[in-house]
Amino acid sequence: MTRIAIFASGSGSNAENIATYFSTNKNVEVVLILTNNPTAFVLERAKKLGIKSLTFNKHDFLKTGEILNFLRKNDINLIVLAGFLLKIPKNLLNAFPNKIINIHPALLPKYGGKGMFGNQVHQSVIEAKEKESGITIHYVNENYDEGKIIFQARCSINPTDTANDLAYKIHALEYAHFPKVIEQLITSSNN
Ligand code: GAR
Repeated sequence: MTRIAIFASGSGSNAENIATYFSTNKNVEVVLILTNNPTAFVLERAKKLGIKSLTFNKHDFLKTGEILNFLRKNDINLIVLAGFLLKIPKNLLNAFPNKIINIHPALLPKYGGKGMFGNQVHQSVIEAKEKESGITIHYVNENYDEGKIIFQARCSINPTDTANDLAYKIHALEYAHFPKVIEQLITSSNN
């Protein structure tokens, strides 16, 4: 049984999409939704989906073992970052080797790093007059957006596209691919 914890800091549309995707799967369950943001809409989604949630502060996340204890108590064996803002601390990286994955809304290694989140990423891509962007799903390590890449998908950018237009295209790619890539990872690690 794979028990997933999703970390999200904002709307949580990916978190909901992943939870819904696995809701009919007997071997995979989204068990927890965790956030550092007490006003994040993802908390409403968790309530609606009937998924246990936890809100924590940055200090507890980075400087204590509380979050790790909570994950262990809930028998979590895979962590998915879906729009999560904070860097993952060493204690979690050590406890979940190759079991923490992130989605980034651009084609890494470009447009990643600290502060590159959501529409900020799309704005930078548009300003650089890129002709395409995409999504990157990757393992998480101690540096922002630098872990080994698992999967990328691309979309084209029209000259008139705004950051919001691009965000829409990127979200569509995320919804189509993220749950399936998670499923493939689980299947291949079980074999
Ligand atoms: C997603 O596009 C995700 O790729 C991005 O935040 C958005 C969250 O949307 N993540 C990052 O920018 C990480 N650096 P959501 O809350 O609706 O799922």
